[in-house]
Amino acid sequence: MSQRRKEILRELGLTPIWRRRGDNALSEPAPSTLTIDQSVPVVNATITATNDREAQISRMDWAQLKAAVAGCTACPLCQSRTQTVFGVGDEQADWLFIGEGPGAKEDEIGEPFVGQAGKLLDNMLRAIQLQRGDRVYITNIVKCRPPNNRNPEPSEAEQCHPYLARQIVLIKPKLIVALGKIAAQNLLHTNESIANLRGKLHYYSDIPLIVTYHPAYLLRALAEKAKAWEDLCFAKATMQSLLTQ
Ligand code: URA
Repeated sequence: MSQRRKEILRELGLTPIWRRRGDNALSEPAPSTLTIDQSVPVVNATITATNDREAQISRMDWAQLKAAVAGCTACPLCQSRTQTVFGVGDEQADWLFIGEGPGAKEDEIGEPFVGQAGKLLDNMLRAIQLQRGDRVYITNIVKCRPPNNRNPEPSEAEQCHPYLARQIVLIKPKLIVALGKIAAQNLLHTNESIANLRGKLHYYSDIPLIVTYHPAYLLRALAEKAKAWEDLCFAKATMQSLLTQ
């Protein structure tokens, strides 16, 4: 094996043995309620409330957005969270990495990707000469931990999307990297598998987007790390060409 390949495998954390963190059972939250104006038809009132909320969020600055996320009760995930997990990094980053949602450690600390999957993500970043906070921003599709680390429901992702959309507008990243199926499918509005989505250049609005495996999946599927490495090389080459445009 070449020295370079050894270095890459080490950067990707292929040598240590990783363990999945345990699931802590949480009780199911009660459904959320929406207060609506009784004097107008329910459907219209709901659409108006949704549009108003999205419009308000789309005008927020960073401070307003952070406060809005911290106090959000738009979906049932608010009932079981310890705290919201907004995102971390360079607010003018070229690179935006988007995961699925906070896990137990992230819910405890308030920062995305700080558990075992986060350590692997940091190694993946290092493999392409990046590091958390330096031209890199990291966030998630949903800002609150789904109970038992289940996938976020489509309705939860939808309620949270205005926050992510505003983060993207404020950051203006040159490239988005979707980490895993949930992030990719939500950002691209598709049900396609990761296998079909990776290796291609997609767009979110007009921002180039590349799909790769979620670090938590890579911890369980070591053989897929080679494909993740290909994705990272593709992302790096794409960024280089975007920077020279
Ligand atoms: N998995 C995610 O998708 N996001 C995190 O922040 C942590 C684990």
